[in-house]
Amino acid sequence: MQDIVNTDEMKAKIESAVKDISSSVELRETKMKFLGKNGEIPSLMKGLKDLPSEERPAAGKVINALREWAEDAFGKCEERIKNAELNARYEREKIDVTMPGKRRKKGAFHPDTLVVDELVSVFSGMGFEIYEGREIETDYYNFTALNTPKDHPARDMQDTFYLGGDFLLRTQTSAGQVHVMENKKPPIKILSPGKVYRPDDDATHSPMFSQMEGLVVDRGITLCDLKGMLDEFARKIFGSGVKTRLRPSYFPFTEPSVEVDVSCFECGGKGCKLCKGTGWIEVLGAGMVNRAVLENCGIDPDEYTGFAFGMGIERIAMLKYGINNMKLLFEGDVRFGKQFRE
Ligand code: PHE
Repeated sequence: MQDIVNTDEMKAKIESAVKDISSSVELRETKMKFLGKNGEIPSLMKGLKDLPSEERPAAGKVINALREWAEDAFGKCEERIKNAELNARYEREKIDVTMPGKRRKKGAFHPDTLVVDELVSVFSGMGFEIYEGREIETDYYNFTALNTPKDHPARDMQDTFYLGGDFLLRTQTSAGQVHVMENKKPPIKILSPGKVYRPDDDATHSPMFSQMEGLVVDRGITLCDLKGMLDEFARKIFGSGVKTRLRPSYFPFTEPSVEVDVSCFECGGKGCKLCKGTGWIEVLGAGMVNRAVLENCGIDPDEYTGFAFGMGIERIAMLKYGINNMKLLFEGDVRFGKQFRE
C-alpha cells in the first residue's frame, strides 16, 4: 500500500504549496490541483482499482484521511488569505476621521445684484411690475420715440455703440418705456432693471453698466406723485431720515425734467467728504413723461400723464456700500466680492 499512497510525500507537497499562496485566486488554483475532480488526491482514489481487492478498503481509508487533512489545510489557508485580504482592504480604505474636512467657499452676490434686489423689493411693495427690456434695440426705441430724433443735440449726451443696420446697444433702459407704452394701456406702473452700453471707459465710467428705470402712467399723475414716491424710495434705500430734493434738468423724453438729490445719509446734511460738503447727493434723473413721447406710443396726452425715473445701479451700490472706485465692481476680484458675503 505504501507505494500507491505515499501520504507523507503528498502532505509535504501540499504544505509547501499552501505556504506560498498569497491570494484567493492562487488558493483556488492550488486547491483544484490537489482536490479538484482531476486533482492529485482524486487520482489516488482512482488508482485504488489497480490494487488487490483486500487492500482497497485500508488504502481507501488512508486516502480519505489524506483528503480530509488536505481540506483542512486549505481551509486554514483560506482563512489566512481572507484575513490578509481584508486587512489590506482596511488599510486601503482607511479614513482618518481627524483630518480636517474640505471647506466649500461660500459665494457672494455682486453689489449690483444686492441693490437691484433691494430696489425691486421696495418698488414692488409700491405696486410696480418688473419689465425686462432688450439690450439690443433699434434707433427708434432708444432715441427717436423718446423725442430724440436724428440730429437732435441731446444725442450727444449718450455716445452709442451702433451695431449696423438700424440696431444699437441700448444706451438707457428708457428704451423699454416705449415698448411698455406701445403694448399696455394705462394704468402703467413698471420697473425695469437692466444693462446698458455707452463707449465711455475711465475711472467713473464703464462701457457696460446697469440702470433701473421706472415708469408710471395714469390719469392725473403729477410731479407731486413723483416726489412722494421718491421720498419713500430714499427712506427705504438710504435710511429713514433721508429727504429728497428736485433740481431742474433736461432730458428730451421728460418735461419738466429733474435731477433728484437725497440728503447726505453719511453726515445728515451738514456736509462731509461723501457729499463733497454740499449735504446732498445726486442719485437719479426723472421727470414728467413728455407729451410727444406719450403720443409716439399711442397714448393720449390730454387724458393721461406720467412720470419716469432712471438711476445708475453702480452709483447706488457705490454710495450704499462706500465703494470709492467703480472699477472694483467690474474686475471680479474675489477679495472684493467676499466682503459682500452674507
Ligand atoms: N435715461 C436717462 C439717462 O440715462 C435717465 C432718465 C430716465 C431720466 C427716466 C429721466 C427719466 O440718463
